[in-house]
Amino acid sequence: MMMRKPFIEVVEIYKKFGDVIALNGVSLEIYPGEILAVLGENGSGKSTLAKILYGLYFPDKGYIKVDDVVTVFSSPAEAKNRGIFLVSQRPQLVDDMSVLENVALFLNTSPSRDLKKKLEVTLRDLGMAIDVDRGVYTLSYTEKQFIDLVKALITQPRLLIVDEAATYLPRELKLKFLDIIKKFAARGGSVMYITHKILEAIEMGDRFIVLRKGDVVGVFEKGVDVTTIRRAMFGSEEYLTTFKRSPKKITHESFALSVENLIVFDEHGKPSVNDVSLNVRSGELISIVGIAGNGQKELGEAIAGLRKAARGRIMLNDNEITHAPASERIKKGLIYVPEDPFREGVAMGLTVAENVKLFSQSKVSRELLDALIKKLDVNPSNPFINVAKLSGGNIQKVSLARLLLTTPKVVVAYSPTRMLDERSKTLTLSILQRLAESGSAVLLLSEDIEEVLHISTRLGVMVSGKIVRFFETPDLESCREDIEKVMVHA
Ligand SMILES: Nc1ncnc2c1ncn2[C@@H]1O[C@H](COP(=O)(O)OP(=O)(O)OP(=O)(O)O)[C@@H](O)[C@H]1O
Ligand SMILES: [Mg+2]
Repeated sequence: MMMRKPFIEVVEIYKKFGDVIALNGVSLEIYPGEILAVLGENGSGKSTLAKILYGLYFPDKGYIKVDDVVTVFSSPAEAKNRGIFLVSQRPQLVDDMSVLENVALFLNTSPSRDLKKKLEVTLRDLGMAIDVDRGVYTLSYTEKQFIDLVKALITQPRLLIVDEAATYLPRELKLKFLDIIKKFAARGGSVMYITHKILEAIEMGDRFIVLRKGDVVGVFEKGVDVTTIRRAMFGSEEYLTTFKRSPKKITHESFALSVENLIVFDEHGKPSVNDVSLNVRSGELISIVGIAGNGQKELGEAIAGLRKAARGRIMLNDNEITHAPASERIKKGLIYVPEDPFREGVAMGLTVAENVKLFSQSKVSRELLDALIKKLDVNPSNPFINVAKLSGGNIQKVSLARLLLTTPKVVVAYSPTRMLDERSKTLTLSILQRLAESGSAVLLLSEDIEEVLHISTRLGVMVSGKIVRFFETPDLESCREDIEKVMVHA
C-alpha cells in the first residue's frame, strides 16, 4: 500500500447521544481497492460511524477527509455527491413506486429511458432478472436488498458502506451479494464492511478494525485469527466456556405442541410448508434447520397464527389451534419469537418498558424491568429509552424479553439470534435451553447450524417445505457433516 493515498480518512470522530458515548475519538482510513472490515459487539458504535460517513449524523467532534480534503456532510445527498453510499439491513425503498422510480428518486434524477437502460444493464451484469417497472411492494425482501445495493452501484461509487446488509439473505444469495462487493473492491472501489460476525469479516476483509464502546481497540492485517478478534471484541472468550451443552433426558409423555400434516401456501399459491408433522414434548428443545427459504419461517408463522394453515392440524396441549387467532394462542401459553425485531419483534415507537408491558400484558415493576435488562444485557440499560434509539442487536435483545416473563408452555423461535453478537447469541441459546429445562416445549427454527447444533435434543432438516430427515442423538455435533449434506442436497 506504499505511497497510495486513502480515499477517506476519519479523524478523531466523537459522538454522544445523551449520556451514551457512541464514538469516542475514532480514527481510521480506507484506501481505494480495499475492504476494511469493522467489527464490534452490539452497541459498539459501528452503525453510528456508518451514519456519520453517510451524512445522516453529524459528529460532535472530529472530521472526515475525502481525497485529502476536509469535508463536512450535513446530508446523505452531500455524501452521495462525493461517491459515498450506505447499504444497510433495512432496504431504503418506497414501496408504492417502481424499481426504476426508486432508483431515480435516490439519484435525484428522472426515471428516464437512459437510466432505465443503465439499470437494466447493471442488473443483467449482476445476473439478476428483476423487471424495473415492477412496484417495489411486489418484491421479496431479498430482491429489495439487492435493488438497494444496485442503486448504489449504478453510480460507480467510491466508497460503499455495507452495514450488516447481508444478514437476512439466504445463504446462496448472500454469497452472491458478498461476491458483488468483493468485485467492486477488486475494481478499485473502497468498502467499509460492517459486521459482528468474525468469520464473515475474515472472509471479506483486507484489514480489520474492532470497536468497543466507541473506542478503536484493535487494528489487524489480513491473516489475523478468530481468537485475536474475539478477544478484542469482548475482552475475553469466557462466555464461550460458560455455555453448557447437555441435553437432558425427557420424561414427559404427552406432546405440548403437535403439528400434523401441515400445509401452508406462500403468496404465489405454492406450498411453502408441505405436509409437515412434528411433536415437541415439555422439556424438549427441537430444532428445524434448513437453508433460508425452505419453509422454516412459514412453519413458525403458521404455528403462531400469523399465517393461514391450508391443511393439517396444529395442537397445543391437546387443544386444536389450527385456525385460532394469534392472541388466543398466546393466552394458551404459546410464545413466538420472530426473526426480524424491526418489523415484527418490537413496537419501534415505544420505550423498552412499554414493549415489555405489551409482552406481559400487565403492569411490570421497575425491579422486573431492571432484572430483564440486566439478564439480556440490553445496552444502554435505561428502560425508558425509545427502542428505536437502540442498536440493532440490542433491539433484538428487547424482543427476547417476552421469553423471560413466564415459563411458557410452548416457545417457537425463528432465527432469534441473527442480529446478536457471539456473546449475546450464547446467552440467548442458554436462555432457550433453560426454558426447556424448566418445562417449556421449545421449537427452534433456524438457518444457522451453529445456533442449533449444541442445544437441541432432536434436529430436523427442512428442504422445500418438507422435513426430510430427523437426527436424534445426544451428540448431534458428530452428525454435523451429514446434517449439512441433507440441507444442501436432500
Ligand atoms: N439515534 C440515537 N439516539 C440515541 N442513542 C443512539 C442513537 N443511535 C445510536 N445510539 C446509541 O449509540 C450506541 C452505538 O449504537 P450503534 O447502533 O452504532 O451500535 P452497533 O455497533 O451498530 O450495534 P449492532 O451490532 O447492535 O448493530 C448504542 O448505545 C446506541 O444505543
Ligand atoms: Mg448496527
